[in-house]
Amino acid sequence: MAEYLNKQSEVISEMFNEIAPQYDFLNHLLSLDIDKLWRRKLVRNIKKYSVKKVLDLACGTGDLSILLAKNGYDVTGMDIAEKMLTIAEEKSQNLNKKAIIPKYTNASAEAIPYSDNSFDAVTISFGIRNFNNRHTCLTEIFRVLKPGSPLLILEFAEPRRRVWKALYLFYFKNILPLIGKMFSKSKSAYSYLPKSVLQFPQYEQFTHELSEAGFSNIRYSTCSGGIAILYIAER
Ligand SMILES: C[S@@+](CC[C@H](N)C(=O)[O-])C[C@H]1O[C@@H](n2cnc3c(N)ncnc32)[C@H](O)[C@@H]1O
Repeated sequence: MAEYLNKQSEVISEMFNEIAPQYDFLNHLLSLDIDKLWRRKLVRNIKKYSVKKVLDLACGTGDLSILLAKNGYDVTGMDIAEKMLTIAEEKSQNLNKKAIIPKYTNASAEAIPYSDNSFDAVTISFGIRNFNNRHTCLTEIFRVLKPGSPLLILEFAEPRRRVWKALYLFYFKNILPLIGKMFSKSKSAYSYLPKSVLQFPQYEQFTHELSEAGFSNIRYSTCSGGIAILYIAER
């Protein structure tokens, strides 16, 4: 049976607050910077829509919020971990003067503090698997999106090809937690990472959840042989 992972807001925010100072360094080291390509793929896809105002949920230290701002979007980043947001705010100060500096809010995706139909797009990169009550969050996202607007979600997955999957899972379950433990203050955060990914519904299982929350025109595409998936759905 799968191990129970406590995803209550206090537990998750405490974990991310603890790893915040080393988060960016470890993120890029553990993914060999490939995560940057995945975020760029999301931005290429958001450009297919007519979008100005973006809500970047679970924005963490702001890598996606900042990339979106650099591409001309008016971004609101939201997260439950204050220390992640502080880093996002600091990094955002270095943006070129032409960009609109993202605004950051400390709040949960379970209760989004914005009115109905207020965003042209919602994005989430590597955040949704941590949400405690996914259905409530998806319903909240649906509420704040304008009709026809897209939700773009990047999340880790298990590759489907056998050899690649075996190699990747060996790295993900054995090597990544060791490196994470060496560099971060948290003993458990980097063993939580593979466990939370392997418990998250993938591919059609997750698109089914999106459709149950009311989304339509749902599709996905794999990144780097299925290490990550970009899901796109419309309100
Ligand atoms: C792995 S980080 C991803 C950060 C960033 N989006 C990125 O791509 O690097 C996951 C983030 O989700 C946030 N998070 C978890 N549950 C949340 C919730 N219910 N509402 C908002 N943010 C949440 C955590 O605090 C953390 O900063």
